[in-house]
Order: sequence, then structure tokens, then C-alpha cells
Amino acid sequence: MYNKIDFNNKTILILGGAGFIGSNLAFYFQENFPYSKVIVFDCFRSDEIFPNGNLKSFGHFNNLIGFKGEVICGNINNQTDLALLGDYKFDYIFHQAAISDTRVYDQEIIMKTNVNSFYDLLAIAKKNKAVMIYASSAATYGNLPSPQAVGKECPENPYGFSKYIMDQIANRYSIENPDLTIVGLRFFNVYGPREYYKVNTSSMVIQLGHQILDGKIPRLFKGSDQISRDFIYIDDVLQASIKACDPKQNGTYNVGTGISRSFQDIADILQKELGTDFGTEYFPNPYDGYQMHTQANINTSKDNLGFEPKVSLEQGIKSYISEIKRLHKTEIL
Ligand SMILES: NC(=O)c1ccc[n+]([C@@H]2O[C@H](COP(=O)([O-])OP(=O)(O)OC[C@H]3O[C@@H](n4cnc5c(N)ncnc54)[C@H](O)[C@@H]3O)[C@@H](O)[C@H]2O)c1
Repeated sequence: MYNKIDFNNKTILILGGAGFIGSNLAFYFQENFPYSKVIVFDCFRSDEIFPNGNLKSFGHFNNLIGFKGEVICGNINNQTDLALLGDYKFDYIFHQAAISDTRVYDQEIIMKTNVNSFYDLLAIAKKNKAVMIYASSAATYGNLPSPQAVGKECPENPYGFSKYIMDQIANRYSIENPDLTIVGLRFFNVYGPREYYKVNTSSMVIQLGHQILDGKIPRLFKGSDQISRDFIYIDDVLQASIKACDPKQNGTYNVGTGISRSFQDIADILQKELGTDFGTEYFPNPYDGYQMHTQANINTSKDNLGFEPKVSLEQGIKSYISEIKRLHKTEIL
């Protein structure tokens, strides 16, 4: 329990609830507040792919095995699908639905999915007088120097730009509707159970874990000891999401650990946990505009949300390792 809010007897909508973070939220409520009513809304994955070869959406039924709440298959871009939500009276809305792939460059589809829909979803929050917690992203910072703080942004891809615009929409909506609670959470690099179906957009923790379990040398970009990220375990993301429901003030808040770690660290910790000593293979980084260093400034998240990250990279990987092994043995995409 992260704060005193009693979610029992509350109606909670999780948009994008078949994805990584959304499905973890669904189970968080189911396990901790058995009398909460949780509704997952997600378009689920189809066979459609973007030109980059990745699936158009990553929601997967396997993320919801054991979930006892309601599930609606719907698209946030589709008014008929959104109308299905008119039958409920929501108390809380967690909006995770998005094109979450940072390497989709079709600006039109990203802006329509991530931005246009947001107006409709805020209107649903307003009509229901529901608390709205939505996912922003560290991609809003682009390659700005660390530590990244809310207020100075420079997105370098359409995805980061869409989240940056969402933050501005939310900010205006908060000013125009001061009685509503609207909080944006800028997630840094999240890893943990139920990310598997993001395939090659999943975290390097599971990707490198599976390479090692395949008996392969973990492969990293050249200079990986210089490339670092603020990696945050899913449990701390849940903590931030719950605490965001009772903020001192509306706003956009960073959700990272405040500590930057290298990709090399991940490979090394994994090898220690898996008992291997394969060394590392390096290959040239093919990407332009690659973020070299992220580290969240979490001062305002601490002050206004009471957010306190608890899980180090070592602890997060240790907690996750049995699931990484299970997926390697049993799951097929
Ligand atoms: N995981 C991270 O490291 C990270 C970092 C920064 C921001 N975020 C943001 O957090 C949110 C959740 O991320 P995630 O890692 O769980 O990603 P995810 O892709 O696993 O989850 C997104 C979900 O939204 C659904 N979705 C996509 N388009 C939709 C549409 N048009 N209508 C309905 N549902 C749709 C997908 O099917 C998927 O289940 C996203 O908004 C993402 O941009 C994630």
C-alpha cells in the first residue's frame, strides 16, 4: 500500500491495460483492493506492423491471464469504441495507451493516437470527475544534458514530441478545470514483468537476459559503458502512479530513480545473476539522435507526490530474474 487511498468500491479505468505498465496496474488493484472495479480498455495487438518492422500495438492477452476485472477491446482513436465507456462512472483513469515505440517515424499516426485522443480522454475524466493519471515520457527531453528536469524539454522524435504536447494539453486543462486532478508521469526506462510482448522495444534487461540464456555473448553498442539511462523497476512505477492520485498539485513529474546506470551494468548484473562469464560483444550503434545519458531530477516528484524510488538496478534484476528465466523457457510470441 503506497498511501491511504482506499480503492475498494472505486471504479478504475486502465487505458492500455493489456500492455506492460497498464496490466501491472490492473493486477496491483486486483491484489490490493479486491473490491475495486477495474476496467481494462486496449486495442490489443493485431498482425499489423509499422514500416520499422515492429507491431503496431503491444497489448497481449497473456498479460491479463488471471485478471478478473472487465476487459474492453477498443481503440482510443475510435469514437464508437470510446462510447462503450459511457456506461460507467469512473473514479480514476490511468491512461497508458499509446504508440509506445520511440522508433515510429510516421508523425501523423503518432500525433493522432497519442495526442488527438487525449482531448477525448480528458473530456471523459471531466464528465466523470475522475482523477486522470497519464503516461508522459523521458523522451520529451531528447538529448538534453542530465539530470533532466521538468520545464526544459527538447524531444527528438515524433513519440517524444507527442508526449510533450500531451503535457501541455494537460497543463492547460488543469488551469481551466482547477477542481480536476490531472497528473502526467514522465517514465524513464521501465523494466520488469509483463514487458515481454513489447518484443524488441522491451527493456535491455529482458533482451540481454534472453541472449545470455540462449548461451550467447551479450551484444552492446560500442561505448556502452558511456551510454547510461535511469532504469526504473515496475514496482516503483506503480508506487508513483498510486501516489500521483493524491498530489500536492497537478503537474508533470519525472518517474526515475534519480540514478543513471550503463547498459554494461545491466549485462554485468545479469551475468552475475545467471552465473555466466561470457564477456561482452560490441557493435556499432546504428542510430542517430540516440539518447546518451538520462537521469531524472526527481525533486518535485518527491515533494509533490511523495515519490521515493526504492529499487536499485541490482535489486530489480534480482526480483525479475526468475520471470526472465520462465519466459525464456515457456513463452512464445
Ligand atoms: N515502458 C517504458 O519504459 C516507458 C517509458 C516512458 C513512457 N512510457 C509510456 O507509458 C505508457 C505505457 O507503456 P508500456 O511500456 O506499458 O507500453 P505498451 O506498448 O506495453 O502499452 C501500451 C498499450 O496501449 C495499447 N494501445 C496502443 N495504441 C492504442 C490505441 N490506439 N487504442 C487503445 N489501446 C492502444 C497497446 O495495445 C498496449 O497494450 C505508454 O504511454 C508509454 O508511451 C513507457
